[in-house]
Amino acid sequence: MKRLSWLLFATVIVVLVASCAGPATTEAPPAPTSPPEPTSPPPPEAEEFRVVVIGKSVHPYWSNVEKGVIAAGADLGLSADQAIFFVPPQEDVAKQIETMETYIAQGVTGIALAPSDPNALEPVMKKATDAGIIVTTLDTPPVEDSVSLVYIGTDNYSAGQTAGETMASLLPDGGLVGIGRGSDTALNALQRTDGFLDAIEGSGIETLEPVNDKEDAARALQLANSVLSANPDLAGAFGVYAYNGPAWATAIKEANRVGETRLVSFDATTDIINGIKEGVIDATVAQREFDMGYKSVQLIYLIATKGEEAAMSEMGVVDGVIDTGVDVITAATLKDYEAGLDAKGIPHEWDTEGWTP
Ligand code: BGC
Repeated sequence: MKRLSWLLFATVIVVLVASCAGPATTEAPPAPTSPPEPTSPPPPEAEEFRVVVIGKSVHPYWSNVEKGVIAAGADLGLSADQAIFFVPPQEDVAKQIETMETYIAQGVTGIALAPSDPNALEPVMKKATDAGIIVTTLDTPPVEDSVSLVYIGTDNYSAGQTAGETMASLLPDGGLVGIGRGSDTALNALQRTDGFLDAIEGSGIETLEPVNDKEDAARALQLANSVLSANPDLAGAFGVYAYNGPAWATAIKEANRVGETRLVSFDATTDIINGIKEGVIDATVAQREFDMGYKSVQLIYLIATKGEEAAMSEMGVVDGVIDTGVDVITAATLKDYEAGLDAKGIPHEWDTEGWTP
């Protein structure tokens, strides 16, 4: 709504300036001058700007996203109610839709959403853009041709390939691998699984059908336990979402299979880092979720204050995407990873003091 009125305001100014130039004359046209500076909307009134970031489930992974949201808000001089973060307890498409509706009704400036089901969320995202709200996505991509202006997050297919290649190098003789994930609709889960399966092709690794816990950590553990008891010789396990790695780790320890069932996970929350230190998690593909939260707020702020084109170029958007990248962490690289986070000032609740690989 606000953005439309700035555009209208800018258009009115341009029309007024043009009409003040006086009637057309037959005099020679003036010498060409440099083109006028592009008009950009005036910055939002401090108290009018509001951005909402909507995640997928209550989990330390999403707390890291929230830290990024808060840090960006502070750096931009916003108050706590101008950079808002929300997640439902577990995967909950209806709750995401309801939350979108609430903030559309409030006429916020922008919404960044991680759609648990991109098809189900697209109509309400469209409703938001029709209302003049800036809509972007983070962590999990929207449908193709979505109204989402930019996706900020991991290239999930290629990150899944990285996980698959890592598993193939851990299992040179192949074997059976279980897959645990938290959604059968969210594109990040589907793309990671596809990338993983493509990367292990021809390696002698066979996979079981992925089990879906719908972002419920307790259910993820039950499923990991039952897959392992049905397949006591399981050679490997792949944890697609942040709590899947720890769920497999607990199941593997309880089954006394540390080192025998090789484990590749996603993300770098404290429980995963502890799994690497203990040697039960062989490798993890760490996303940069703090950056996803930070950049979502920053991008929407820049679009609102400087206009879409300037914001896209300042943020380095390529084909509607800001690829936040991943880090592969193993026991051998954990200390370097920690040093990298510290150098960037990214908070983490774990440390490697007193630990050696
Ligand atoms: C995914 C999120 C998911 C989270 C769950 C992450 O790996 O990127 O989409 O909500 O795990 O803990």
